[in-house]
Amino acid sequence: MLDGPMNGRIPQSFIDDLVARADIVDVIGRRVNLVKAGRDYKAPCPFHDEKTPSFTVSAQKGFYHCFGCGAHGTVIGFLMNYENLEFVDAVEALAEMLALEVPREAGPADRRRDSGSLYQLLAEADRIYRAALRNDPGAVAYLKDRGIEGRTAARFAMGYAPDSWDTLLRALGTDERRKEQLLEAGLAIRNEKGRVYDRFRDRIMFPIRDPRGRVIGFGGRLLGEGEPKYMNSPETPVFHKSRALYGLYESRQRGPAGTGRPDEILVVEGYLDVASLAQHGIGPAVATLGTATTVEHIRYLTRIAQRVIFCFDGDRAGRKAAWRALETALPHAGGQVELKFLLLPEGEDPDSLVRSGGAEAFRECRDAAVPLSEFMLGELRSRADLSSADGRSRLAALARPLLSRLPAGVYRELLLGQVAETIGVSGDALERELEKAVASRPPAGGGSVPDDAGATPDRSRGTLIRRAIGLVLNYPAIVAKLAGIPDLSGVGQPGARLLHRLLETVGENPEIVPAQLLERFRDDREGRFLGRLMDSAPLDSEEAAAAVLQEMLQRIVAEEKKKRLQALLSRSPLSSEERAEITEIQESLRNLRGNFDGS
Ligand code: UTP
Ligand code: MN
Repeated sequence: MLDGPMNGRIPQSFIDDLVARADIVDVIGRRVNLVKAGRDYKAPCPFHDEKTPSFTVSAQKGFYHCFGCGAHGTVIGFLMNYENLEFVDAVEALAEMLALEVPREAGPADRRRDSGSLYQLLAEADRIYRAALRNDPGAVAYLKDRGIEGRTAARFAMGYAPDSWDTLLRALGTDERRKEQLLEAGLAIRNEKGRVYDRFRDRIMFPIRDPRGRVIGFGGRLLGEGEPKYMNSPETPVFHKSRALYGLYESRQRGPAGTGRPDEILVVEGYLDVASLAQHGIGPAVATLGTATTVEHIRYLTRIAQRVIFCFDGDRAGRKAAWRALETALPHAGGQVELKFLLLPEGEDPDSLVRSGGAEAFRECRDAAVPLSEFMLGELRSRADLSSADGRSRLAALARPLLSRLPAGVYRELLLGQVAETIGVSGDALERELEKAVASRPPAGGGSVPDDAGATPDRSRGTLIRRAIGLVLNYPAIVAKLAGIPDLSGVGQPGARLLHRLLETVGENPEIVPAQLLERFRDDREGRFLGRLMDSAPLDSEEAAAAVLQEMLQRIVAEEKKKRLQALLSRSPLSSEERAEITEIQESLRNLRGNFDGS
């Protein structure tokens, strides 16, 4: 039952076709109010809060890009981000809109792209863990002891992984292929000797669900003392810690039916905090999974709630985590959604608070949650001594990068004014100085480049390769106009191999459009950051762009040759082959130079 024909790989040609047929303006336009601006469309970005629209959609390129927060992607990527869907689900949703059937190739499932059988396996594991909890008096006693009632355990589908190496392995790993799937789902581990065994043993199990309610991973807590206290599923094709939120599905099940937007959502640190709060009638609450709050978390939360309260323990670690959440949340501040921060009394977490003082104790704390601006100013004040001039300028220095992350608008003006006032020099001068820092920030996202193409000690070379990649990616049609494509396979510079592969792909598919190229490199180690190099500048002349690209490619080759030449020249004695190579390189460099001299 695990693997039908439905689980075969989706052919690349279908993805190409889907991206070509889908009207990205229509798909996004149904979710965001797009307004035509020149040849593109604009709107306030749905992924961060802003007043002036910096979100653009290019129909021609099949691409969206926000100059404010750097969000970008194809129509498939948009659906994944906006609807919080996995790749295959986004493809299916899009195909449905276009009334197309998603074809599947015969043969085994493509692990990377098809997750249907992983979901089934995770659901089966979940059933096994739940049954095991019912049969284990020790595990039940542990939950009782922690104050978790039966109905709460049931609501969160808590389970128990027995103290054995092969509970799941015996039940689910019945053949080699299923064993592989257990490994892929993160439920089993293979040691160096090749032995496969269950990952979770003797732990209370918390299934983690996606917004549709499917189990995507687990967290497991030891019953007694020991290390690590909690263990989570590793990253798998269906489980991404940076996106997942524990308790989201469960707590929303409770809300008034059909209301997509709860008034308020609490973000807490632990699984048991979520469960305990729910048991005391407080919520909805969600927890990140032992990781910091990410941009993806915040984007999602601000789409579903009107107020988000980040709740942290009052100790040093909690304050630090709160500060990191603040930094991540800044681009979303000042918009429709209210962001608040709550530091609990030292030594308490939401679970301990409700257990000792009931719901009332927690509500009292919650009422003391402060708005993001107040939390930020308070923390800044505590980090600088305002009685000295040095301290005040330190505060200004700390505030600058934070203010620059806020979306432009009244909220930022206000906060800027408050910082100025706090420093006590509440003059225009400071405001102007801060303004300058704010205005001179590089556009978020736009400044970053693919890891591979950007991080190079040889800046000019890196830039050259990066610019060439950008040209090919944005204007693939110009590749057909090149007089010839030099062989870059031997160039050792970062990004060169990616450029080579892009040129090859376009060479083989001369009609390819940028969005299709991006989809091909979606999961590629080297190419997954390509989206950041998309831009929306129109091209005046393909001929001119082709000439520029040609020259860049030649320069890249020439620089590589020069490097080789230098290496050879520093050697002595030289073999006759090496001398011959030197002559050859010098010869070819002279020819190349003929091409760029005067440019
Ligand atoms: P805490 O250490 O604050 O524990 O971890 P807790 O939630 O209060 O747990 P109890 O009350 O002792 O059972 C908070 C969260 O951090 C993650 C888990 O998600 C946990 O819920 N964590 C913690 C880990 O991932 N691994 C660990 O070893 C510890
Ligand atoms: Mn706790």
